Formats: sequence, structure tokens, C-alpha cells
Amino acid sequence: MKKILPFIGLVTIMIYSSISYANAADAAKGKKVYNKCRACHTLAAGKHRIGPSLNGVLGRKAGTAEKYRYSKAMVKAGVGGLVWDEKSLGEYLKKPRAFIKGTKMVFPGLKKPTDLANLIAFLKEAAK
Ligand code: HEC
Repeated sequence: MKKILPFIGLVTIMIYSSISYANAADAAKGKKVYNKCRACHTLAAGKHRIGPSLNGVLGRKAGTAEKYRYSKAMVKAGVGGLVWDEKSLGEYLKKPRAFIKGTKMVFPGLKKPTDLANLIAFLKEAAK
């Protein structure tokens, strides 16, 4: 019995690490989630559609992409110090209109936390 204990320990560690791997944000899956954004956004610098280009969005102050006309609410949020990072993007994309009242982004939000995490992982790579 004593000999089997380390073995059980090892198996437990293996199971745990595979679970945390499964939970890790997946950029490839995030690319599919991004399909929901493509109607209105591009990842190309300076190319705006209905929404502003998301090129370089991580680390950017809200409402500051050049030559894009934002809602007053979004400009105000940026002036108030809102910068897009993993946390603020997560909050915004969960329910845009609750996070920024008066935003003109007509998108209900991403309900699934895994979709959100994967999307942000994708944006970190693709929106540089
Ligand atoms: C129906 C069109 C539409 C869809 C779909 C949409 N957006 Fe937007 N998005 C906008 C508009 C319009 C704005 C400008 C909002 C404002 O000025 O209030 C915006 C603004 C943003 C901003 C703020 C950018 C900045 O420069 O401050 C981010 C970030 C963003 N969208 C990300 C996303 C992501 C990620 C998705 C997909 C999950 C998405 N949007 C889906 C239209 C859309």
C-alpha cells in the first residue's frame, strides 16, 4: 500500500495539470469568437468600419483611435482614464452597455467566460 501512494500522488498532479491546461485561454478558439466582431471591426491599423480598428487596442486609451468618431460616452471614459487591458476589455465585452452607459457599440456581450478569455488571448496576439 505504501508503494502505491506516490503513484496516486503523481496521477493527481497529472490530472490537475491537464485541467489547468484545458482552462488556459486558447487564442485559436478566440479567433472564432472574433467572428462576432468582424462585422464592425478590423485588426488593420487605421481601418475603421462601424466600429474603430482594434489594431493596438490592448494598452490603448479608450476612445482614441485616430479618425474615428466615438460616442461621447466612450471619449469620456478615455478622458476619465480608461485604458484597454485584459481586465477592462473583459468587463466591457461581457456587457458593453452596462460598462459604458451610452456607448454606440450595439453588441449584447459575450456571456461565456471561456469565450471571453479565448477572445482576449486572440486579441493579444492578433491586435498588436
Ligand atoms: C454592431 C457592430 C459592433 C460589433 C458586433 C462589435 N463592436 Fe466593438 N465597437 C462598435 C462601435 C460602434 C464602437 C464605438 C463605441 C463608442 O464610440 O461608443 C466599438 C468600440 C469597441 C471598443 C473600444 C475601442 C476604442 O478604441 O476605445 C472595443 C475594444 C471593441 N469595440 C471591441 C469589440 C469586440 C472584441 C467585439 C466582438 C466581441 C466587438 N467590439 C463587437 C461596434 C461593434
